[in-house]
Amino acid sequence: MFKIVKKRALNSSVILMELDAPFIAKKALAGQFIIFRVDEKGERIPLTIADYDREKGTITIIFQVAGRSTERLSQLSEGDSIRDVAGPLGVPTHLGEGVKKVCVVGGGVGCAIAYPQAKELFGKGLEVDVIAGFRNKDIVILEEEFKKQCNDLTICTDDGSYGKPGFVTDALKEKIESGSNYDAVIAIGPVPMMKFVCAVTKPFGIKTIVSLNPIMIDGTGMCGGCRVTVGGETKYACVDGPDFDGHQVDFDELMKRNSTYKEYEANCRLMAQAK
Ligand SMILES: Cc1cc2nc3c(=O)[nH]c(=O)nc-3n(C[C@H](O)[C@H](O)[C@H](O)COP(=O)(O)OP(=O)(O)OC[C@H]3O[C@@H](n4cnc5c(N)ncnc54)[C@H](O)[C@@H]3O)c2cc1C
Ligand code: FES
Repeated sequence: MFKIVKKRALNSSVILMELDAPFIAKKALAGQFIIFRVDEKGERIPLTIADYDREKGTITIIFQVAGRSTERLSQLSEGDSIRDVAGPLGVPTHLGEGVKKVCVVGGGVGCAIAYPQAKELFGKGLEVDVIAGFRNKDIVILEEEFKKQCNDLTICTDDGSYGKPGFVTDALKEKIESGSNYDAVIAIGPVPMMKFVCAVTKPFGIKTIVSLNPIMIDGTGMCGGCRVTVGGETKYACVDGPDFDGHQVDFDELMKRNSTYKEYEANCRLMAQAK
């Protein structure tokens, strides 16, 4: 059992939880994730390790209430426990040699996944710019946390209600065109956002890492549920990723595969609400 030691709402649908998980906290690195089950009948759900404290033995998860399982998790309180948490899973983020200046681009709840990346790179002494995009002011998350972990933070909102009006891709293009000289870009958020960030960086030849979120089941490379096509080859995001070279990813296939169970998931949530 994994005890919830802290719970905090970051906006109306995004929740931060700190879990007592000393063995995971000991080994976790940026880019890795856990798979949890709320109880013995729960689905296996992947969530990124947004932060960890090796001394306290805790890990932090930040999740959007998207459907049945995340809703059930959101209903737990401080002091309650989660049945299973497996991790750390996946390959830690690795940018390669010679990278000195990076732009981390996050979209919506993807900022929860982008945050540990910015923190780790900034902590290693790299120059880090962050561009974080949200639909509107009400759902901006982690602004104060990002400010402490980067050289320059740009918050964008689609409707212009806060920060810079427009999409993260516009802000990124402006920065690149004004001579920001990034050695690498890390993009994490909705699949279309990552696809368009890659379209911005490709003509400039900037290495772009994306964190993919296919449907996962076992998280150990056995079931094939999370397969994605990268550079024409089949990869398993749970063991080969979730980070990949964005210029090689077949995003259209990923979007199609991610919508496979849409109708079933919607029905599950409606049935749960009707109970
Ligand atoms: C490596 C990885 C890291 C992730 N990290 C985060 C995170 O830090 N914060 C966060 O809010 N979300 C994260 N997600 C997405 C999160 O797993 C889904 O939002 C969650 O599974 C939704 O489940 P549900 O039952 O609440 O909703 P459902 O209604 O069942 O599903 C809503 C949507 O979530 C996705 N989804 C559902 N089941 C799975 C599954 N087993 N595996 C992957 N995606 C699924 C599908 O796109 C689906 O359409 C991550 C996904 C992956 C693969
Ligand atoms: S989740 Fe089963 S192979 Fe990756």
